Amino acid sequence: MNFQISSLKEYQETYKKSIENPSEFWDEVASHFYWREKWEKTFEYDWSIPETKWFIGGKLNITENCLDRHLETRGDQTAIIWEPNNPKDTVIHVTYKQLHSKVCQFANVLKNNGVVKGDRVCIYMPMVLELSIAVLACARIGAVHSVVFAGFSSTALAARINDAECKILLTADGGFRGDKITPLKDIADEALKTCPSIQKSIVYQRTKQNVFWNNKIDVWWHDELRKVDDNCPAEVMDSEDMLFILYTSGSTGKPKGMVHTCGGYMVYATYSFQNVFQYKQGDVYWCTADIGWITGHSYIVYGPLASGATTVMFEGVPSYPDFGRFWEVCEKHKVNQFYTAPTAIRALAKHPTELVNKYDLSSLKVLGTVGEPINEEAWHWYDDNVGKNKCPIVDTWWQTETGGMMISSLAGVTNDKPTFATLPLPGIQPVLLDNNGEEITKQKAEGILAIKHPWPSLARTIYGNHERYKNVYFSAYPNHYFPGDGALRDENGNYRITGRVDDVVIVSGHNLGTAPIENAINEHEKVVESAVVGFPHDIKGNALCAYVITYDNVDESTDLINEIKQIVSDFIGPIAKPDKIIFVSGLPKTRSGKIMRRILRKIASNDVTNLGDISTLLNPNVVEEIINSFK
Ligand code: WT7
Repeated sequence: MNFQISSLKEYQETYKKSIENPSEFWDEVASHFYWREKWEKTFEYDWSIPETKWFIGGKLNITENCLDRHLETRGDQTAIIWEPNNPKDTVIHVTYKQLHSKVCQFANVLKNNGVVKGDRVCIYMPMVLELSIAVLACARIGAVHSVVFAGFSSTALAARINDAECKILLTADGGFRGDKITPLKDIADEALKTCPSIQKSIVYQRTKQNVFWNNKIDVWWHDELRKVDDNCPAEVMDSEDMLFILYTSGSTGKPKGMVHTCGGYMVYATYSFQNVFQYKQGDVYWCTADIGWITGHSYIVYGPLASGATTVMFEGVPSYPDFGRFWEVCEKHKVNQFYTAPTAIRALAKHPTELVNKYDLSSLKVLGTVGEPINEEAWHWYDDNVGKNKCPIVDTWWQTETGGMMISSLAGVTNDKPTFATLPLPGIQPVLLDNNGEEITKQKAEGILAIKHPWPSLARTIYGNHERYKNVYFSAYPNHYFPGDGALRDENGNYRITGRVDDVVIVSGHNLGTAPIENAINEHEKVVESAVVGFPHDIKGNALCAYVITYDNVDESTDLINEIKQIVSDFIGPIAKPDKIIFVSGLPKTRSGKIMRRILRKIASNDVTNLGDISTLLNPNVVEEIINSFK
């Protein structure tokens, strides 16, 4: 496959061509893949419906691109290096041939358990090799995978299973994370009490702990494997058939099941992977994300494997057995491209640089970040200590919804600039809009980020709720895709993402809607109402502050604070627990009853000098009271 841009000039020319003649540009890119049948039309869209289609009429199976295609050329090359949570455990190197065989075999297990094309399969697993195998096995037979991050609670898992009406659950007895074990089977059992669509639960044995067994639905992964062979022809999929659903938090209501389709997603995840990271054959690439997030889907599994790369999959956490773990793994596997999140960098930067310096990091060529804006200090720490000032840093801006990286430098090809995601990838047309939705044409400007033209891996809908898809992404600014972020642009056209402009807070790189957290808190019998906002936090980027109104005569005790934290943890997961809980008698509201989160954010951030005009509030006095309760 050769669509790697190798100079700044080539980037400029390619970008220009991709905008002037998108059909020709994307036809060329897509021609590097293996299609069972070629597409008839490159794309078609109408964002008033909204509807977007790519490589229309094309037939393919993404696993033939990720696996079969490599068998002759690099069958014995390592596809995945699996690094265990505990460094004393055994590393697994799985070649393309072996991975092909394992995926086909597990695809047959799925078939044996009644899964057919179009069925939804929920995957709630730790970062074991079998998680990648499961994802690919679904794709092999045209089943739609819905991976749920193994840190989510049983309530969150059940909501996702039910929303997509999944037929099968793939889980494990437990998962290792640092010195802890997550009791995944217990959590799943709890969830399944309210999930009538699940017919079978296939359980992978990882921790070997005792688990409850329901003979009606539970089967062991290893028992099922014995019943099948590894011969499984790929299902021929239409380019616009569903490949997967992945849930992301919204600012209101339940999580949004973003739907990605086969053809466009494959093309864009792979194209962006190769260009941003400048992956060269034989390189070892490592993305530290979990496959429970889009980063893992696109840049641990699909993008790298479709490129014939060697991709590292890491079961553990950056802090175990100590804060040098990432660098130990980089040294051990001679990692060339390393991709992580700003929150991890900030956490690691708190520890002595000795923990970095004791490892040989000379194999590193490219560093990357994703998930939230990276602050200047963290950027320089990364550049100085990890990259030794010789590795370009790609700051990649994108979303679950975009499927692939949208704004980023191309490592060593276009320039990077601390705290800037920099330039759009070919085919991506970002614009800045003012508050009236008018495009700001001045080069140096700040505004609302929007995208003007479709690209292949845009999520096509929210599963089961196209109306919501339209409202959230295509209604505020007609004819644009609205990602929910603000940005500024410098005199050279570089973009810097300034943060969310809606009620989503990015905590440790996790996208958390404030509304579902408020809903959870409001479930507590002593709570009348609550408002959750983000405030800046040294390591997490943002942390959450909950303002809570309780019923009269309620004892606003530490116990209550802990109960509220627990309820959030139960409903959503430990990642959503607020750092601060402040009891108040009222919340600042507009006359129409809308909570003024801007004010609450400022107070939580200890920035009360300029709260703006509060005289129009329904209850201006409450502001003073809230400020005082912080003192
Ligand atoms: C939101 C999307 C893309 C995978 C991880 C998060 C923020 C993401 C950056 C970046 C500044 C960033 C945005 C975006 N974000 N990358 N490089 N610089 N902000 O996926 O959970 O869908 O969250 O993450 O606010 O909208 P996600």
